[in-house]
Amino acid sequence: MCGIVGFTGTRPASPILIEGLKRLEYRGYDSAGVAVEEGSRIQVVCRTGKISTLEQSLAQFSLTGPCGIGHTRWATHGTPSEVNAHPHLSCDGKIAIVHNGIIENHEELRRILEGRGHTFTSQTDSEVIVHLIEDAYSMLAFDSSEEDDLADAEGARRPHTPTSELAAGKPSLLAQAVSMACGFLIGSWAICVMTEYEPGKIVCARKESPLVIGRGAAGVHVASDVAALADLVGEVAVLADGQIAELAPHGFVVFGSHDDELIRVRPETMKLSGRSDTADRGQYADFMLKEIYEQPRVIRDTLEGRFDGGELTIEELGLTHEELNLIDRVYLIACGTSYHASLVAKNLIEGWARIPCEVEVASEFRYRNPIVTPSTLVVAVSQSGETADTLAAIRDARIKGAKVFGITNVLGSPVARESDGVIYTKANKEVAVASTKSFTGQLVSLTLLAMLLAQSKGRLKQGQMRLLFRELASTAAQAEQILKDTERVHQAALASKDAKSAMFIGRGMGAAVAEEGALKLKEVSYLHAEAYPAGEMKHGPIALIEPGFPVIAVATESPTYEKVLSNIQEAKARGAMVVAVATEGDERISEHADEVIYIPKIRDAFSPITAIIPLQLLARDIALLRGCNIDQPRNLAKSVTVE
Ligand code: G6P
Repeated sequence: MCGIVGFTGTRPASPILIEGLKRLEYRGYDSAGVAVEEGSRIQVVCRTGKISTLEQSLAQFSLTGPCGIGHTRWATHGTPSEVNAHPHLSCDGKIAIVHNGIIENHEELRRILEGRGHTFTSQTDSEVIVHLIEDAYSMLAFDSSEEDDLADAEGARRPHTPTSELAAGKPSLLAQAVSMACGFLIGSWAICVMTEYEPGKIVCARKESPLVIGRGAAGVHVASDVAALADLVGEVAVLADGQIAELAPHGFVVFGSHDDELIRVRPETMKLSGRSDTADRGQYADFMLKEIYEQPRVIRDTLEGRFDGGELTIEELGLTHEELNLIDRVYLIACGTSYHASLVAKNLIEGWARIPCEVEVASEFRYRNPIVTPSTLVVAVSQSGETADTLAAIRDARIKGAKVFGITNVLGSPVARESDGVIYTKANKEVAVASTKSFTGQLVSLTLLAMLLAQSKGRLKQGQMRLLFRELASTAAQAEQILKDTERVHQAALASKDAKSAMFIGRGMGAAVAEEGALKLKEVSYLHAEAYPAGEMKHGPIALIEPGFPVIAVATESPTYEKVLSNIQEAKARGAMVVAVATEGDERISEHADEVIYIPKIRDAFSPITAIIPLQLLARDIALLRGCNIDQPRNLAKSVTVE
């Protein structure tokens, strides 16, 4: 979703901003823009479409100014267009802002500001912020000039330069104006602001949307995502909710708000590995393919060091065996692909640990009144660790006294920071919008969690745990085997590519895999797809089946295999073109399915880890055949940071 970068230093800002925006491209966006201080003016350039288009346009402007802010926009309020793209300017063109998040009271604020004579140029919610800052700034500047006149008269006037203020740790007028403006906002925001009145300065503020700041060799950088800063800074300051930061070419300070005063505070910091995983897709045609092929590595890395000494340990959970033993209910809260990984985990937690477990979409959970007590474990599953609904859900759960545990891929992400404990999925950066290797990392992590809960409840003995762990680890080699021969997947893709719609079916573990398979297909190929527990097919969806209609069945070896086989026959009897994912050695299935993709034999509990791989490949293959953009599907965002 939207991304922010900013730089102030000793080199031209424009190429640094473009490079940063490119690193945020993976998040999904529809327009982009930059504001650069050029001499004594702020120059804004915005374009719809790709960053490369903006880059080409910028070449004509030859901007050399050393201070600027940039933004990728994923439209929420107002169409994707140049006028709606950020940065937005104040009426006098002297203040520029970029904003991530949503201003919920923007209509009311716009009315008030228009009443005060402000002219709006966009349909965005964000634009109200710059007009509020403009008002606050002119009010503060007026007060300050009165004070300066007084100080002049008393012979005590101090120099009014950004650097001296920074050194003195006092907030500048811009920082005060931003703080005042934020006081009128309802919603979520990460904002960066610059003004012609205070050259070389960027002021940042946040509530619920992330911002990180770091000092590099040529100046100070700010971004909404550490991905934009990898290789540029070794450490970042993580701005907390309500804090305001002021950046100047040689340093930055962070302020907290106490009794309406901005007081300098020491921000939380985080070391960066310095490695940018986004850079290279190597031999692969796209990141999605690269990431699908990384899955065996993800399984191994996520399992590494977990079962030393004959016992499963997840120290990061932060709970003792006794505390784990007291848990009497588990909620798995997630969105999208992470939700589907959670559906698998429900079966494992209830099956092995015998603890009631509910899986809920975060956007629903946060607005219900679920039964959450201090003995409830709430597990937030989020690749990015910054999904707005998931974050809101865990905050709510914490208020209700639950233990909150995060499963995420991003070090130091809000989910990681706001949970009592966290498992990192070791997938490393995922660039393609459609999640693949993160799903695998989540499945493995959630499986470990289910085993741990079962161990704590005394439901799984050491020998059983060892056996399960060994089998779980074997999925890595199986995944490699599946990825060696993809010809059958390709045949299935050719047979399905011209369809208008497709249905995915499965039971038990297979039902969750079917859900994820259908989501992948929708996301990357724009082919309409629905997933149903196979037993539900007769209750409606079967009406859709006509000759040639693709039905993709997850029919791996399981206690419900025979039932799925019957459902396949029902679909076949109505002319469906059936593609089955089945277990090697299953010859019966080939009598009923048009295309069979075999995977190695594995325990039903672990089958999602391998059964999903052919479906990920199938979705990508169909998308390629339909000429779609694999890594950046239309309308989608990698990180959904607004509700
Ligand atoms: C977006 C992404 C999906 C992802 C979902 C949840 O919709 O496009 O791939 O599954 O958000 O994201 P999270 O980061 O919380 O797992």
